[in-house]
Amino acid sequence: MTNESDRTAAVRIDWDAQAATFDAEPDHGLGPPEVRAAWAERLRTWLPGHPADLLDLGCGTGSLALLAAEQGHRVTGVDSSPAMVERARAKLAGRDAVFLVGDAAAPPVGERLFDTVLVRHVLWALPDPARVLRHWRGLLRPGGRFVLVEGVWGTQTPVGVPAGRLTALLAPLAADVRLERLSEQAVLWGKEVHDERYALVATV
Ligand SMILES: C[S@@+](CC[C@H](N)C(=O)[O-])C[C@H]1O[C@@H](n2cnc3c(N)ncnc32)[C@H](O)[C@@H]1O
Repeated sequence: MTNESDRTAAVRIDWDAQAATFDAEPDHGLGPPEVRAAWAERLRTWLPGHPADLLDLGCGTGSLALLAAEQGHRVTGVDSSPAMVERARAKLAGRDAVFLVGDAAAPPVGERLFDTVLVRHVLWALPDPARVLRHWRGLLRPGGRFVLVEGVWGTQTPVGVPAGRLTALLAPLAADVRLERLSEQAVLWGKEVHDERYALVATV
């Protein structure tokens, strides 16, 4: 799993300062139409086929949340960075979506339950992912699902969560865990990548 130095590096990232330029990366802002279409297509296969309550944790500027809302889902987004949340609110203005400032590890959603917990590129930065996954499991309705998009970034000094480790952590919490490897789908990233990128879709 993620080691302590990965998490220390993540904690050092000033996400508020990153917010203004975050969407400049093709896979963050989903600006290029082909990148946007590729993520929309992936989401369509990962998310429920009917309008669902979706919890997007560490939602950033709301790029994936917007795609999900466009597909008819009701989105609650949580991010610890007020600047990220401000951008997400602006991006989804007028949509069936709410955004909260809070900790993804313990989202401030009270007793609410969701059909899907969607998390992209956040779990690697959270302390004690096993505990966090158990907490998220408690936020899902029966038959709900996790959609976790993670990876190990960089080849010189890799940072992240290998698919095998995350699959093993999810296995006790879900009836079915499906791994989809994404490294070879360059269109998702706006470039060729040579590190590990993947999604796990797990039904509880
Ligand atoms: C790499 S970005 C990913 C953003 C978004 N999920 C996406 O895929 O575009 C990581 C995000 O996680 C947020 N984040 C980091 N640690 C967090 C925590 N403990 N609770 C909530 N959000 C957190 C950051 O503010 C940032 O917006």
